[in-house]
Amino acid sequence: MIKQTLSNDKPVMSVIVEKWEECFETYCYKIKLPVKIQSAKPGQFIMLWVPREDEYPICIAGLKDSILEVGIAKMGPGTEAMHKKEVGDLVGIRGIYGKPFTPPEDVNHLLIGGGFGMTPLKLLTEVLVANENKQTIHVFEGARSKNRLMYYEWLQDFHDQGKINFHVCTDDGSLGYQGFPTIDLEKFLQESETSSVIYAAGPEKMMKVIFDIGKNYPKVVDMQMSLADRYMRCGFGACAYCAVDPTGWRICVDGPVFNTEKLEQISDFGVYKRLETGEKKRI
Ligand SMILES: Cc1cc2nc3c(=O)[nH]c(=O)nc-3n(C[C@H](O)[C@H](O)[C@H](O)COP(=O)(O)OP(=O)(O)OC[C@H]3O[C@@H](n4cnc5c(N)ncnc54)[C@H](O)[C@@H]3O)c2cc1C
Ligand code: FES
Repeated sequence: MIKQTLSNDKPVMSVIVEKWEECFETYCYKIKLPVKIQSAKPGQFIMLWVPREDEYPICIAGLKDSILEVGIAKMGPGTEAMHKKEVGDLVGIRGIYGKPFTPPEDVNHLLIGGGFGMTPLKLLTEVLVANENKQTIHVFEGARSKNRLMYYEWLQDFHDQGKINFHVCTDDGSLGYQGFPTIDLEKFLQESETSSVIYAAGPEKMMKVIFDIGKNYPKVVDMQMSLADRYMRCGFGACAYCAVDPTGWRICVDGPVFNTEKLEQISDFGVYKRLETGEKKRI
């Protein structure tokens, strides 16, 4: 009988069935899970074990009929080891973990991010587009240069079909407008007369800037941000390596997605992160 769920505390070996280079130093993979899982919610993550190297958290970019999609940016030895994996190789997966984005109805959905933060936003875009209610969806993506934009063609295609409004920018002006994604976000907020929810994922410093901008606009009824730029060890609430001050919330079980009310209470947000030693370091 096929098992109905992944193991929470031990990696389940799964085979890579597709691999492609998405952008600079970033590969995407489709991985076939040997268990029956229909779907996951945007913002949730898995722990990826690369045999003989390391285990670390990775957001879910897609999950359909037990095929998991992930996007992995090169950071250090663990992600480099994954980049060497090819179709047919095995990796370990455990999860699914974390609290997802929870989009309400009848608002403008404003998704903003950069880097590997675009992976949970990809799944969120897909879910919102599939929703029958015709809501306005704006995706704001920024990168240093055009070769670092994740899912550019996928998002542009949705834009061309009129399903989303895609705002793209680069620091060097090589694609889209030159500057940060917050420029177009703020332009939208200044002109909009209807309620909006902001969803952000990416470097925490960028999310703090977005949070401070969003607070200035009463039409922003909620902000949901994925604090996935933090160190994790167990992924399911046991080690407290991911705890934030002063609430003691563990990002892996109480997040990684937090709403405005909760973000207001996390004094570490955008200011301090924890190193692998447990020590706090200014972001
Ligand atoms: C909930 C969550 C979801 C994530 N989703 C993605 C994703 O979809 N795609 C992606 O490319 N990256 C994602 N990351 C980041 C990814 O886990 C790290 O880039 C990876 O662990 C780096 O390991 P490394 O050995 O390559 O680099 P290292 O040299 O070990 O570390 C490079 C950086 O990554 C951080 N890091 C190292 N190990 C961990 C760990 N166990 N947990 C968190 N951070 C770590 C370090 O603090 C350092 O800042 C996510 C992180 C979290 C917390
Ligand atoms: S990673 Fe262990 S409690 Fe969050």
